[in-house]
Amino acid sequence: MLRTHTCGELRPDHIGQTVTLTGWVQRTRDKGGILWIDLRDRYGLTQLALEEGVETEEVRAQARELGREFVLSVTGRVAERHSKNDKMPTGAIEIRVETLTVLNPAKLPPFLIEDETDGGDDLRMKYRYLDLRRNTVRNNLMLRHRVAQATRRFLDGQQFIEVETPVLIKSTPEGARDFVVPSRMNPGEFYALPQSPQTFKQLLMVSGFDRYFQIVKCFRDEDLRADRQPEFTQIDCEMSFVEQEDILNTFEGLVQYLFKEVKGLEIGTLPRMTYADAMRYYGNDKPDTRFEMKFVELNDVVKGQGFPVFDAAGLVVGINAHNSAMYTRKQLDELTEFVKRPQVGATGLVYARVEADGNVKSSVDKFYSQDELQKWKAAFNAQPGDLLLILAGEPHKTRKALSELRLEMGQRMGLRDKDVFSPLWVVDFPLLEYIEEEGRYFAMHHPFTSPKPEDVALLDNPATIGEVRANAYDMVINGVEVGGGSIRIHDRAVQARMFSLLGFSDEEAKAQFGFLLDAFEYGAPPHGGIAFGFDRLCSLFGGADSIRDFIAFPKNNSGRDVMIDSPSPISGAQLKELSIATAVEKK
Ligand code: AMO
Repeated sequence: MLRTHTCGELRPDHIGQTVTLTGWVQRTRDKGGILWIDLRDRYGLTQLALEEGVETEEVRAQARELGREFVLSVTGRVAERHSKNDKMPTGAIEIRVETLTVLNPAKLPPFLIEDETDGGDDLRMKYRYLDLRRNTVRNNLMLRHRVAQATRRFLDGQQFIEVETPVLIKSTPEGARDFVVPSRMNPGEFYALPQSPQTFKQLLMVSGFDRYFQIVKCFRDEDLRADRQPEFTQIDCEMSFVEQEDILNTFEGLVQYLFKEVKGLEIGTLPRMTYADAMRYYGNDKPDTRFEMKFVELNDVVKGQGFPVFDAAGLVVGINAHNSAMYTRKQLDELTEFVKRPQVGATGLVYARVEADGNVKSSVDKFYSQDELQKWKAAFNAQPGDLLLILAGEPHKTRKALSELRLEMGQRMGLRDKDVFSPLWVVDFPLLEYIEEEGRYFAMHHPFTSPKPEDVALLDNPATIGEVRANAYDMVINGVEVGGGSIRIHDRAVQARMFSLLGFSDEEAKAQFGFLLDAFEYGAPPHGGIAFGFDRLCSLFGGADSIRDFIAFPKNNSGRDVMIDSPSPISGAQLKELSIATAVEKK
């Protein structure tokens, strides 16, 4: 080793020892008589001191030439500091430098490599390898490492076997868009990168592996957001001879273990909420349950008083923002603007304040008498000081918009504390959802998900297909879907029926998923599983909104890696070799 100790290691116990440290120059301070250097490595910072008349002039001259981020090796004696810094683990000591070697000089970095940097997002992404020298980013990746190790420990302890599945697979029409890879050896044909190892893990169950897991890269060509990357990582798991209850218990155990190991927190038993209740009370299948503010449906309370907007609406629904009646006109206008944004999509906002004397004042007082407004107050169980916020319109859209408003109010009222964790299971998802634009049903989770046995009869009637519930579940923490899974179909006939409901002809189903249908004829055990969004779990543990901060080399919102400048064009020769031109021409 080129060093005897790391930059985070030395304490008063080491005083008097001669040591060699290596690392990067964080900064130098030259006070004339004494010159200090902060030397940094992954483990911490250590102060080096060079004093006039104590350290040699030669080494002091060398030190004056150093720039930020130079790579050094220094040998010296550990000494007690005059003025100690109790915020730094090494703050009681410093190194009195005897020899100093520049292992490699460095250009001036384009931004400050400190906790508070002056570098914008784009610059830091372009020089990600420098950004990764910063404590915050490095600590995020260390947290990621700890979550991965704890996951492996837990699952290994539960008899799960880690198996790698292929990355070059086959494109399928369901789910998000695939990334595809041309095959040189099979002109005009393409592999797809897996959106998840779903079919492979089911085949491993047919093979008798019984319990499988993998911390695995998945690829989806979808629109990106703070919690979505085109390549991301799942903790992917599957178990045989289980029912939904077994999966929920096993993976509740995993998440409890991770919270304990990584955050030192006991999260207890996870509550369960049906999809129907999540939509009804939160307008969202991933409710942020750190705060209540449940939806109150008002159709029976507000209709028939001559207010056209409410009378014409399919649904009138609101929330009670406790102790927010002091909201000013300006703040209420902001909220109205908020709900009218195209992403939220409401046409307007009705509000009502409960005043100190118990009277209610609303923005639509000309249609409602005080007696009527008292009925609103009762419906919301509102108290003096409360602010009622009400939306009206087509039920689905209105719930969605109110969900956004609820989250916004939760934010404004400080109810979404990053250090508070509220995990839950959302269960009983619908099996299918009708997509208007496509004119057909799609699997809400994926086509391999089994219907609840008691709902199977509903599949026979086109009017009730949409009501069929699946053995599917999501784990939600603080409004983030951190995981989802289902009990699978393991019967060939049921799987074939499912494909037919999804609009596949027998030939199409055979061409796309024949291998799975075939496998089901060779003794498929009942099985089910789940996959967690590993990046999302890490960012939740780290208290951040964006998963990018927890990925070593992430893509930006246009799916670009600005550091390596990818994606990029390829040469005509490469295209030709890959028969891409031929593929396009053929079409
Ligand atoms: P699903 O599609 O729900 O299920 O994905 C599982 C979890 O992966 C995370 N996730 C993402 N994270 C970051 N960026 C993305 N683009 C992204 N997409 C999904 C989410 C999600 O809950 N094979 C099934 C699982 C199963 O049935 O066992 C699957 O992939 O946290």
